[in-house]
Amino acid sequence: MMVNSENKKRIAVLFGGRSGEHEVSLASARSVLSVLDRNKYEVIPVGISHAGTWYTGLNVLDQLTSGKTDNLEMVTILPDPSMPGLYHIHEGVLELLTKLDIVFPVLHGTFGEDGTLQGLLEMADLAYVGSGVLGSAVGMDKGVFKDIMRANDIPVVESILVLRSEIEKDINQVIQQAEAKFTYPIFVKPANLGSSVGISKCTHRSDLGEGLLEAKKFDRRILVERGVNAREIEISVLGNDHPKASVAGEVLPSRDFYSYESKYEDGSSRLSIPAPIPTPTSDQMRTLAIKAFKAIDCAGMARVDFFLDKDNGKFYLNELNSLPGFTSISMYPKLWQASDLPYIELLDTLIELALERKSERDRTERHFRSTP
Ligand SMILES: Nc1ncnc2c1ncn2[C@@H]1O[C@H](COP(=O)(O)OP(=O)(O)O)[C@@H](O)[C@H]1O
Ligand SMILES: [Mg+2]
Repeated sequence: MMVNSENKKRIAVLFGGRSGEHEVSLASARSVLSVLDRNKYEVIPVGISHAGTWYTGLNVLDQLTSGKTDNLEMVTILPDPSMPGLYHIHEGVLELLTKLDIVFPVLHGTFGEDGTLQGLLEMADLAYVGSGVLGSAVGMDKGVFKDIMRANDIPVVESILVLRSEIEKDINQVIQQAEAKFTYPIFVKPANLGSSVGISKCTHRSDLGEGLLEAKKFDRRILVERGVNAREIEISVLGNDHPKASVAGEVLPSRDFYSYESKYEDGSSRLSIPAPIPTPTSDQMRTLAIKAFKAIDCAGMARVDFFLDKDNGKFYLNELNSLPGFTSISMYPKLWQASDLPYIELLDTLIELALERKSERDRTERHFRSTP
């Protein structure tokens, strides 16, 4: 039975964006858009170009994928809560296109997963899927994230943080500092990026120099880490105040480490679900995944990634992705599928969690007046 369109929730699905993970986002959005139940939801697809312009219109996903935007309409969300909804911009004039009940950012990386978009949506007083400003921003910054894990007794790999300006001033001093702390291999990575962009595995001194120069292109804060001979185990978390953890999955990278090429170009990295690891290990990881999710105040979803040392069975929490890859064959939904939550129900749950979080937020008093 068709539900009256009046009763349908209006959801803007945002994708693309000003991030190195623009294409990954288009792939995630293709799955989300093809599965969202049109009997329940009125879906408004909104594509964000590489330049940051927001568009909607017929076949916006296909158009954006092929880089064509001529037949699309420019739209925007305003930060003013008294003007809620999606506005169409035509010849400089704003016109309300549709009201919105929920925004679903299917965006990865900068300007989507890092708290900046979430800031706009908070200003606009909209319900949205996923973490708020804080959880998103902390999940994005590998340096601050690790410090918070340490403060919560969650094991992380030893690391130091260096600034681009320190590398530019005296790279040899940075190399010495790293060598005094770690033996090779050493990993170098930009603090605020994803998809393995700018990450190097360095096996000797000259690699380390090159790795630092590469990483500093992408961020002003660089993480230098002890290399672990690692199996890569991932866990999906879902919920708000009482989040749940999925079964664990293992990534089997096609290369020496899970590099950009291995993630997106080779097409031969494999997932093993559930991960063939001892149950006490996966149980501890699930507990820590939830602890990490709560520690940085995540909401909705996160994929929490671990390293399991092949040499001694120790494990470390590596990172938390607040908007993980979301195609129907990505790890995040596949782990839920293996935990008896199919993709379509996962989407419904995330939307319900977004509305729950919004009503929780609405309970907060904004105006404090002391009683005389
Ligand atoms: N300290 C480390 N020891 C071993 N491998 C690492 C280490 N840091 C990163 N890697 C490898 O690089 C990949 C990408 O690093 P990660 O920290 O997950 O960044 P990203 O956000 O880009 O995914 C990991 O999946 C792993 O294969
Ligand atoms: Mg990673």
